[in-house]
Parts: sequence; C-alpha cells; structure tokens
Amino acid sequence: MSDVVLPPVPAPEPSLRFPVSTVGVDIGGTGIKGAPVDTTAGELTATRVRVPTPHPATPEAVASVVVDVLAQLRCDGPVGVTLPAVVRHGTALTAANIDEAWIDTDADALLTAATGRPCTVVNDADAAGLAEIRFGAGRGHTGVVLMLTLGTGIGSALFVDGALVPNTELGHLPLKGRDAEKYASELVREHEDLSWSKWAKRLSRYVALVERLLWPDLIVIGGGVSKKADRFLPKVRSEVPVVAATLHNDAGIVGAALSVGG
Ligand code: BGC
Repeated sequence: MSDVVLPPVPAPEPSLRFPVSTVGVDIGGTGIKGAPVDTTAGELTATRVRVPTPHPATPEAVASVVVDVLAQLRCDGPVGVTLPAVVRHGTALTAANIDEAWIDTDADALLTAATGRPCTVVNDADAAGLAEIRFGAGRGHTGVVLMLTLGTGIGSALFVDGALVPNTELGHLPLKGRDAEKYASELVREHEDLSWSKWAKRLSRYVALVERLLWPDLIVIGGGVSKKADRFLPKVRSEVPVVAATLHNDAGIVGAALSVGG
C-alpha cells in the first residue's frame, strides 16, 4: 500500500499568529510602555510591558524598542504610539525632550516599516487628554477643557466640546523668564527639591497664565504626579475647577490606542 502524501500545512501568516487587539505604546523619557487596549472601555486588557528608553533616543533606537515591546505583548493589530513632540499627520516637527533626530521624521512611516504593523503616532499629551476626556476626569464635560501633563516637561491637550485641538504645546509659554516647563514641571520640582507648597505656587502662576489665554471651563492635571494630587492640588489657586486625572499612568497607552484611525 502506498503512503498517502498529505499537502504541507501552511505556516500561519505572521500577522495572524496572535489575538488581534488595538495596542497603545507610550514613549516617555525613561520608559517605553505598551499594552493591548479595549478602546470601548478605555482599559488595558493585559499587563503592560515596559522597556527603558534607549539613550540617545534616536528614531531608529526607539523603533527597535517598540518592536521589542510589541513582541513581548504577543498580540496583533494596529498600533497607536505617543511621542513627546509636535506630531502633524504622523511627522514629528519638534524635539524638546527627545533626540533632535526626530525633527522632520515621518514617525508613522518609520514605525510602520519597523514593526510591519500600521502605526499612528500622536503627541503624548494629546493622547493622554483623549483618554481623560473619554474615560476619565474630563468625561461628559463640554465647553473648553484643558489637560496639562506634568512630567519631564509640561504637555497640553485642548478640547472644545470634546474635539481635540492638537499640538497646543502650552508647556513652552514664557513664564518668569523661561519656558514654563523649566519653571513648573514635575522634573523641576524634583531637581530643585521644591516643597509641595512652593511647587503649588509655581503651578498657580502657570494656571493663571493659561487661564488668561484660553478661559477654560475645566483644567485636568495629569502625568505620574497626578497620583499624589492631594499633596499639591488643594494648594493651587485658580479661577476655574482644577481636577486630577484619573487614568494616571495608563492615560498615554489608552489615548495612543484611541488615536488609531482617528
Ligand atoms: C513637548 C511636548 C510634550 C510635553 C510632555 C514638551 O516638552 O514639547 O510635545 O507633549 O513635553 O511630554
């Protein structure tokens, strides 16, 4: 009896090996974090992966860490990515707290080519703001809502009736003779060893400045330090309500995923 020769089983398509989910990747000054996201609930659906940001954080070095993060997540699907830079239609136009080589880099194209998956790159504060306005402290608020992220720099995201006005970059407004983020960011608080009260005074000056410029209805304070909002927020003087973000460290990842196809 002759052996039956079965046709070889084709290898699965590389893009169909794992469950499909929208993934958010948040590129920060110290870490690159990613997770699959349920974009209808605004929640991570698996534990996030974190890899230290390479130094120098050139586009190529960052791209290879993004590839590594995605490999560890073991899921397929489109990817939203944040960058601490002005990002217009996928191209980075500034580089305040990242390597200058990003300026004029088509970040969408670079990361799409490196990962083999469709990547959408947006400003980090815009992403965090999107997450907060849909699922966090800004939820249900119409009118003018301003999100400020306090970290290495100061990021801003401006919403008018829920619609984002991208790349507002209010951390670079002049304040006390310098860039506002060099006067009132969380990094400055740490480096200058400012007490919560002293830092709150600086934040009050900054909040007064943005209030005079935009007359917002609500200000949401985000960034990692928003977890300790009870230490400084009650001391911040303002004309309008200033509240703490609620998604904390997940806001960037969730917002990155929300930006996919948006
Ligand atoms: C950058 C912004 C960024 C912010 C927070 C600023 O220095 O110019 O693009 O959103 O830092 O990371």
